[in-house]
Amino acid sequence: MKIATIVGARPQFIKMAPVSRELRKYFEEVVIHTGQHYDYEMDRIFFEQLNIPEPDYNLGVGSGSHGYQIGEMLKKIEEVLIKEKPDLVMVFGDTNSTLAGALAAAKLKIKVAHVEAGLRSFDKSMPEEINRILTDHVSDYLFAPTETAVKNLYNEGIRNGVYLTGDVMLDALLYNVKIAERCSEILNKLGLKPKEFCLATVHRAENTDNLERLKNIIDAFVECKETIVFPVHPRTEKVLKAYGLYDSLKKAENVILIKPVGYLDMLMLEKNAKKILTDSGGVQKEAYFLKVPCITLRERTEWVETVEDGWNVLVGADKEKILRAVREFEPSGETYTYKFGDGRASEKIAEVIKNVDR
Ligand code: UD1
Ligand code: UDP
Repeated sequence: MKIATIVGARPQFIKMAPVSRELRKYFEEVVIHTGQHYDYEMDRIFFEQLNIPEPDYNLGVGSGSHGYQIGEMLKKIEEVLIKEKPDLVMVFGDTNSTLAGALAAAKLKIKVAHVEAGLRSFDKSMPEEINRILTDHVSDYLFAPTETAVKNLYNEGIRNGVYLTGDVMLDALLYNVKIAERCSEILNKLGLKPKEFCLATVHRAENTDNLERLKNIIDAFVECKETIVFPVHPRTEKVLKAYGLYDSLKKAENVILIKPVGYLDMLMLEKNAKKILTDSGGVQKEAYFLKVPCITLRERTEWVETVEDGWNVLVGADKEKILRAVREFEPSGETYTYKFGDGRASEKIAEVIKNVDR
């Protein structure tokens, strides 16, 4: 059996790492990189540090509007799929690369497997929500990370081909956190002591494309009394510079602005942070897995377990709420990582495909 794995954006490189390791034990794998992310810190660094198989194709699509990006991907992925004739296409998460990969395959009547199926924020103004819904509805194998995800699919009438496997991001984290502890120098490099700083990431469209929201978030970072380590996504860097906000952040004594970091350094920053402020999907989960309180700069999350269990608080882009959460938010109970599986989701995914292949 031949599997085509389609990736393109930072979180997908991390998600594919454990899955690809398992798939290659049993199947032939062709890796197609759409080129959605291309800066060294958003792309190559992950292939170099995580031993991910090199892409067989890089379609070099790059940045652009949603229509342009998905359209270009669709055309180019189709050409490769026609040439490679895989039996199955694997897509991950909820980016434009996910949707383009799933759609290209479905139109060619190639079976689609979606890793991280069934997530819903119930907010269709988020581009990720559209990508998730459409991808799930053309998928043949839906690998759901949580019971909530299975229920969401059920409620949309998707009942066949759904497998509760656990979350491949937990697999990736458990595999890499010990390596990170041995290898990462990031705390020393930045002069940080464990639990004496907060970590922040911001890149989602609802925050970067809305000046008022972005300004509120940045003001909160500058006004809060904590040291904030802020690895800046290139999208956010561009907007901050365009609006003249980058310099005020740079001048702020409590804010340490850095380029996006590799996964191993990121895990060490997350693990040692006092609190995490983020609008990322993946970072919310990692905060939960690492038992670090998370302040989410959104009104809604698809990772509802992290909020229900008291380790994540949704503050949107409200400056006062952000400042209060930095001062006062303390988790009330335990984390229940088993809700995201046992760190062997990738094995289970490979097992399902093996059985289907028989
Ligand atoms: C994409 C995903 C988002 C995911 C994020 C992970 C979509 C619709 N969004 O958002 O769900 O959370 O990836 O990080 O697929 N840019 C660079 N260099 C790069 C990549 C991007 O400079 O290597 C800049 C470009 O100006 C580009 C902008 O960032 O226009 C946005 O990039 P894009 O890939 O469209 O979306 P992300 O914001 O990265
Ligand atoms: N990440 C990273 N370096 C960074 C920021 C994030 O390695 O500077 C990792 C993070 O640990 C997580 C993933 O990237 O595994 C999340 O990706 P991102 O926040 O870009 O996208 P989202 O999860 O919101 O789609």
